[in-house]
Amino acid sequence: MNWLPRFAFPGRGSREAGSNTGRGRLFVYLALTAIALLLSYQLVLSRESLSSVSRWAVGKGLTLAVNHAESNGNQTSEGKPEAHLVSQKPREKELVLAAMSYSNMSWVQENVPNWYTNIYRADVPPGEAALTVPMNKGNEAMVFLTYIIDRYDSLPDVSVFMHGGRYQWHNDNPLYDSVISINDLQLDYVRETGFVNLRCSWVVGCPVELEPARYFREKLEDNGHPTAVEYPHRFMELFPGEELPELVGTACCSQFAISREKIHERGIEDYQRARQFLIETRLASEISGRVFEYVWHIMFGKPALNCPDVRECYCRTYGYCNMTDDDLQRQWVWRGLVLPEGWPNVDPNAGLQKRDEIPSVEYWRK
Ligand SMILES: *[C@@H]1O[C@H](CO)[C@@H](O)[C@H](O)[C@H]1NC(C)=O
Ligand SMILES: *[C@@H]1O[C@H](CO)[C@@H](O)[C@H](O)[C@H]1NC(C)=O
Ligand SMILES: *[C@@H]1O[C@H](CO)[C@@H](O)[C@H](O)[C@H]1NC(C)=O
Repeated sequence: MNWLPRFAFPGRGSREAGSNTGRGRLFVYLALTAIALLLSYQLVLSRESLSSVSRWAVGKGLTLAVNHAESNGNQTSEGKPEAHLVSQKPREKELVLAAMSYSNMSWVQENVPNWYTNIYRADVPPGEAALTVPMNKGNEAMVFLTYIIDRYDSLPDVSVFMHGGRYQWHNDNPLYDSVISINDLQLDYVRETGFVNLRCSWVVGCPVELEPARYFREKLEDNGHPTAVEYPHRFMELFPGEELPELVGTACCSQFAISREKIHERGIEDYQRARQFLIETRLASEISGRVFEYVWHIMFGKPALNCPDVRECYCRTYGYCNMTDDDLQRQWVWRGLVLPEGWPNVDPNAGLQKRDEIPSVEYWRK
């Protein structure tokens, strides 16, 4: 509301009001009318956005608390890209989270309130959530590309792209906790290197995941690995004219941090073409989305085979530079694609480690 005093009593106007009572009264009257109009407009706007959020939120058994969690701060609720930011100083960092209408996102506001956060509700039709996507296809890839396209001219220094749930099997710390990943991420390293995969562990994706050139040459069929079969053709659609790589490898699962400059190394039309591919493809979302897991690093300038040394990766990405061999071995454990119910409040009776036996990242920092 800081426009109020400035609008009603601009420096010169108020002095004039003192010297000329008639004009002064007229000015105050006009100002009050304008304020009343602005206020009623504001009310209509907030009621509309509130009801559209509550429509799906209540339908899915969520409380209105999610309305608050859609953004930690000044985000518009109309789902429009923040055009006004173009003329403002860009933010230092933003989170981009791929969620669904039913996802409980309060963990963001509760744990990383210092991050400006973009929570996309992928299954909510356009216009009915603060942020959503043109079509719910391609899993998180649709969300990430939509953010890049809409915010191409107002990107922060660093954008961090992740799945919406706080605990994900592929989060690279012993608690599988996004909060730890976000808090420990070395932003200077991201600025300096441009693109950083948030996963260092080689489990799933490294040292090699796909062999596109060979699959293409030998016209291989492999029902057990549809991504490998589709990848060569989709690669050629996404990167027309670029040579098909022999080997593709990167730590899986589409979570990464990236600098504005790195995103800008490609024109917006590349991202638009990639999103159009997702919209039009006949592939099921889990396959088109998986293709993108092995596309991001190439799109952002890394070699097709991008499996850095694990020790160095933890040190640079998270500042964990004091890890023993044993720490490196134990830091990430495969527990299946779904974490145990109630994680991380684990139950030793169910054969799980006690919470205090799960390694802490404390000693890994130097
Ligand atoms: C919201 O805006 C205020 C002032 O306009 C600014 O100080 C604050 O940092 C902004 N918050 C976020 C999360 O961007
Ligand atoms: C959402 O998660 C928070 C913890 O971040 C929890 O306290 C709250 O009860 C959850 N809300 C619902 C509706 O499950
Ligand atoms: C480095 O790790 C060792 C054992 O793993 C630990 O004793 C030591 O305190 C750690 N150093 C720091 C600075 O935390």
